[in-house]
Amino acid sequence: MKVKRPVTTTCWKVDSTRPDPEIISGAGLILCRGGLVAFPTETVYGLGANAMNADAVRKIFAAKGRPVDNPLIVHLATSQQVETVARLIMPYARDLMKAFWPGPLTLVLPGKGVLPREVTAGLDTLAVRVPDHQVARDLIQAAGVPVAAPSANTSGRPSPTTAEHVLADLDGLIDGLLDAGPAGLGVESTVLDATGEIPLILRPGGVTPEQIKSVAGAVKLDSGVNGDNENNTSRPRSPGMKYRHYSPITPLVLVEGEEQQVSAALKKLAWEYGEKGYCVGVLCTKEVASDFNNIPGNSKIIVELGDALDIHNVAFNLYGALRDLDASQADIILAQGIDNRELGLAVMNRLRRAAEKIVVV
Ligand code: TXA
Ligand code: MG
Repeated sequence: MKVKRPVTTTCWKVDSTRPDPEIISGAGLILCRGGLVAFPTETVYGLGANAMNADAVRKIFAAKGRPVDNPLIVHLATSQQVETVARLIMPYARDLMKAFWPGPLTLVLPGKGVLPREVTAGLDTLAVRVPDHQVARDLIQAAGVPVAAPSANTSGRPSPTTAEHVLADLDGLIDGLLDAGPAGLGVESTVLDATGEIPLILRPGGVTPEQIKSVAGAVKLDSGVNGDNENNTSRPRSPGMKYRHYSPITPLVLVEGEEQQVSAALKKLAWEYGEKGYCVGVLCTKEVASDFNNIPGNSKIIVELGDALDIHNVAFNLYGALRDLDASQADIILAQGIDNRELGLAVMNRLRRAAEKIVVV
């Protein structure tokens, strides 16, 4: 289906630490008046709208093709502003804010009911965070309102880590884009349900379970975190988790398990697909990339995620690599599972949710 491209998207290049105040105030005004502006954060690029304006928020869903029952994260310029939108904040949630805001932690809190239902998809909770990016915070400050912002991608596509990714999906569908170079982490914030006695991770992300536990004393993982929500008929706690996400259009097979066995199984699968005449795309760490040098067939595409021990680099490269493989000739993507610890939990969560098939070895 051809998507209508009704608006001209203005792209402003800005410095990531000292953005031009005139550009920021112009973009803030567009947001305040109900327009859509994409902006960098320390995780991925977000697509912002005035969170107090239902019409503006509806435009986000239209531009992304996002299901309306999937609520948005409200972005604030400072931690103090949380009182204006949240009704009740547990002591441990306050400790987490002190420790990790600004930063890649989204807290789900009881709402005050001041936001239009489009933002929260009718839930009585709301998701809120203070991004750790100068451009994001200056923009929210300039807009003078809380800013609702999902990742700035077409729904179901990998989140954008560069301005080019945003334009590839949303050029002509949004009013503006602040380009401050690549986003920091490369994976999204951790979404943490902070409404109960013990905090519950709904989506792993930039702040790890270990970090949360060290401040809150305890933490639980929602059963959907390891990708087993798909066939679950019960209502997921985080509505976004029920959709197949971050998915390349090319089918992706994820191989996970013990390190040595994973690389052997990947190589075997690459052989089998190569022999069948497939153009094989492999998504792997630097350490195993050379294993694919002599698989049959000429057409193979190896995209490296970087050094397996540098999990930050792997996370940073993940979405760009998925987009590159998707745009390539590959008929099938074979992805190497990595260590599930720390930021690896977020990477594996995204890979599992992108996968059409998971092979455990
Ligand atoms: O790093 C990030 O979090 C990025 C940047 C732009 O801030 N944003 C982002 O937003 O990833 P989005 O919309 O792609 O993901 C938000 C997730 C969804 O899974 C959604 O279902 C969940 O947060 N969520 C939002 N409000 C919620 C609520 N009240 N209760 C439970 N989950 C909620
Ligand atoms: Mg998203």
